[in-house]
Amino acid sequence: MPAPKPSRSFSIDGASVLVFDDKIDACSAAADRIAAVIRDRVSASGKAVLGLATGSTPVPVYDRLVEEHRAGRLSFAGVSTFNLDEYYPISPLDPQSYRFYMDRHLFSRVDLAPNRSHVPDGTVPEAALEAYGRAYDGWIEGEGGLDLQLLGLGRNGHIGFNEPTELDLDRALALPTRPVKLHPTTIADAAKDFGGEEHVPRRALTMGIAPIRSAREILVLAFGPNKAGAVSGSLLGEVSARVPGSLLRPAGPRVTWMLDPEAAAGLDRR
Ligand code: GLP
Repeated sequence: MPAPKPSRSFSIDGASVLVFDDKIDACSAAADRIAAVIRDRVSASGKAVLGLATGSTPVPVYDRLVEEHRAGRLSFAGVSTFNLDEYYPISPLDPQSYRFYMDRHLFSRVDLAPNRSHVPDGTVPEAALEAYGRAYDGWIEGEGGLDLQLLGLGRNGHIGFNEPTELDLDRALALPTRPVKLHPTTIADAAKDFGGEEHVPRRALTMGIAPIRSAREILVLAFGPNKAGAVSGSLLGEVSARVPGSLLRPAGPRVTWMLDPEAAAGLDRR
């Protein structure tokens, strides 16, 4: 099936914004871009390095990648992956862990080597968390950096679990992979998955703004009316750590926003 085309496209501060008829079309286009990067990088250098995201948003992306694999058109044999984030503390066997999610939606369904899929580890001892974050960034650099980072967007504008903060811009752009506290909006949004707010872990490990921005290409997916404010805040508002999605705007990697009409609704005043 050919990649669906966006119904509208424009650029904001150098980023491409593609608006699709619906989220399935957007996810299919994102999956096709990821597949193209895998094929190009593996044929050029023998390997491809992907940054991956969780949440409800990218599920159809993984389904389409699995379909491509099952049809014999895509191999993950040369691929390494680094996930954005994980709750802390959490067991990889907990069905709400992002490691469990990735195994279920992608890793167990394709030919990715078991030692090449990396998800921040929710079982790292407390005292080792900061060092673990630095090591995670070192592993990404050791692989030659991320060829492509897939991102969702929190309702409060977070990317990964980089929550809104009052940090000045330079410090926000330099944030490494590290342990963080979750924002009340994030805890409220996760409550349905954990069977109530009181069961949601209060902390997480997240890839930092700096390693995210060091990816050579970034795809940001956001769908539905709940994301419209975060999308317009990220693309039209001030570049500030108060809206982490806006930190993708200072010149850096190639960024493409793939939206449905509801998530793009706040961009019309541009
Ligand atoms: C979670 C994840 C993010 C994700 C976001 C949006 O908090 N840490 O990486 O992008 O929420 O989730 P959803 O796609 O379910 O809206």
